[in-house]
Amino acid sequence: MLNQIKTRRSIRKYIDRSVEEEKILQLIESARLAPSGSNSQPWHFIIVKSELNRQKLSNVSHNQKWMLSAPVFIVCVADIRSRIKDGDNLSIDENSPHPELKQIIRDTTIAIDHMVIEAENLGLGTCWVAWFTQEEIRPILNIPSDKYVVSIITVGYSDEMPKARPRKKLDEIIHHESW
Ligand SMILES: Cc1cc2nc3c(=O)[nH]c(=O)nc-3n(C[C@H](O)[C@H](O)[C@H](O)COP(=O)(O)O)c2cc1C
Repeated sequence: MLNQIKTRRSIRKYIDRSVEEEKILQLIESARLAPSGSNSQPWHFIIVKSELNRQKLSNVSHNQKWMLSAPVFIVCVADIRSRIKDGDNLSIDENSPHPELKQIIRDTTIAIDHMVIEAENLGLGTCWVAWFTQEEIRPILNIPSDKYVVSIITVGYSDEMPKARPRKKLDEIIHHESW
């Protein structure tokens, strides 16, 4: 496992090859099995392959054109209804004060990381994209206002071998017994 974690890179250039359906499902399966607070499982995943929708998603992600070389986008959505059952007209965005928003983003992020590591295991490249606003991204895929888009994960076969980006050293992040 540590080997795959070590070799994973954010991939921003993909070859012209589609991704097998069973591999996409295996990614979502790895996400489905993630842990979550109170086992609330707030995550949903929208598989996007159409050129038009990928174009629109790239546009609202600050026009990151490189995204379009990926044949599949997995749009990862956190549902606050996993924690707040009552109330019509519940609407959340980046500025919402609901403490549950942090919880659903936390839990969905765990599931997304499962997916990203499993992609490495399957020989697929991925990249996180989270540079968009809820207001702009939601209408593209008809996502209701009580759901929060955590990230787009681009998926495909890599056409680059980026060098490892720097990480802090272990002794910069480990504390013993107390802070
Ligand atoms: C929450 C999040 C958002 C990110 N958003 C973007 C993005 O919008 N565009 C991009 O090119 N990379 C994005 N990245 C990728 C990071 O730049 C990358 O993970 C970091 O530089 C470390 O490189 P590595 O993933 O190759 O180890 C994002 C990563 C995370 C975790």
